[in-house]
Amino acid sequence: MPTPATAYEQVRERLKAEPKTWLITGVAGFIGSNLLETLLGLGQQVVGLDNFATGHRANLEDVRVVVGDPAWERFTFYEGDICDPEACAQAVQGVDYVLHQAALGSVPRSIEDPVRTNQANIDGFLNMLLASRDAGVKRFVYAASSSTYGDHPALPKREDVIGRPLSPYAVTKVVNELYADVFGRTYGMESIGLRYFNVFGPRQDPNGAYAAVIPRWIGELMDDQQCRINGDGETSRDFCFIDNTVQMNLLAATIDSEQAINQVYNVAVGGRTSLNELYAAIRDSLVGRGLEHLEGRAAIHGDFRPGDVRHSQADIGKAQELLGYSPSHDLAQGLDVTVDWYLRREGMEKKAGVSAVAEQ
Ligand SMILES: NC(=O)c1ccc[n+]([C@@H]2O[C@H](COP(=O)([O-])OP(=O)(O)OC[C@H]3O[C@@H](n4cnc5c(N)ncnc54)[C@H](O)[C@@H]3O)[C@@H](O)[C@H]2O)c1
Repeated sequence: MPTPATAYEQVRERLKAEPKTWLITGVAGFIGSNLLETLLGLGQQVVGLDNFATGHRANLEDVRVVVGDPAWERFTFYEGDICDPEACAQAVQGVDYVLHQAALGSVPRSIEDPVRTNQANIDGFLNMLLASRDAGVKRFVYAASSSTYGDHPALPKREDVIGRPLSPYAVTKVVNELYADVFGRTYGMESIGLRYFNVFGPRQDPNGAYAAVIPRWIGELMDDQQCRINGDGETSRDFCFIDNTVQMNLLAATIDSEQAINQVYNVAVGGRTSLNELYAAIRDSLVGRGLEHLEGRAAIHGDFRPGDVRHSQADIGKAQELLGYSPSHDLAQGLDVTVDWYLRREGMEKKAGVSAVAEQ
């Protein structure tokens, strides 16, 4: 007997049969460009908005190569800032679903420059919410964050129990949830907030002071450098592969059930991995792909970073129950895909023995 289709498979089939128009803000970034790749692959019309604050034209070019030129023609890109209400209004015209990803990520960045973070993450968010309300979009799905759990010690994290924010970045993400909730109550707007937990995967930026830990360590080890672990390495996270995050966005945008709408959801796998374990997994994965000189390579330990939550692990029960979410990749499976992608990108395929056929 064939296995019944998952909620995600059903959504994909429905979208292929009845294509919609989507706006992805932050489309040149890591998560935005992965959403773009999936939606164009499903035959959707996509509008993108980005000011390249942290995103890259190379990410868009990469998607164009993967999906091919006929699919690429269904994509309209606006270079613009979400802090500009006119740019938001222009981008959202005729759109069914908004996937709002544009923001300045990173806890340390927000500690160094809380004003800029506030502008993009709160003023920009409000502009997008207003533009979406005025354009009558069907649903506003937005990138929330696990940083909203702040100093609350309970594990695993359940959506209804949060603590006090530990950084300006976390404050902005809490405010996003408050605004979305109020727009539901006052204007009847439909929104869903997705509290991402440490997303990783292809096209995540490995460079710069605010790079996320997985692409940074992969990049450093590939460059034969020594990696630095902040603190004792027992800090833990629920690392979530990008395909799971894309799945949650599509489920959230299209779910019909009343009780699932105007809610926030954890987006994670439900696992917990320490930084020490993560480092070893990345290093050993590279060793297994031919970079034998990295075998046993130790990392150095630095200070703990201010603003960092000590432990993080999600309860994904709410997303499973109300959205039919079923993560497709655990950390190890996601790391396999990710490490292969960075090796290929650096042209190290030959040395590492990664098959070019696995490209798609
Ligand atoms: N990656 C994670 O682990 C993670 C975790 C929690 C939440 N998030 C949230 O997910 C979203 C996407 O994150 P990402 O990891 O893809 O980061 P990213 O930096 O790769 O992407 C963000 C994109 O938004 C664009 N952008 C920033 N400010 C803008 C502005 N004022 N106007 C227009 N575009 C602007 C950037 O140029 C970039 O392309 C963000 O809202 C982030 O806070 C990410």
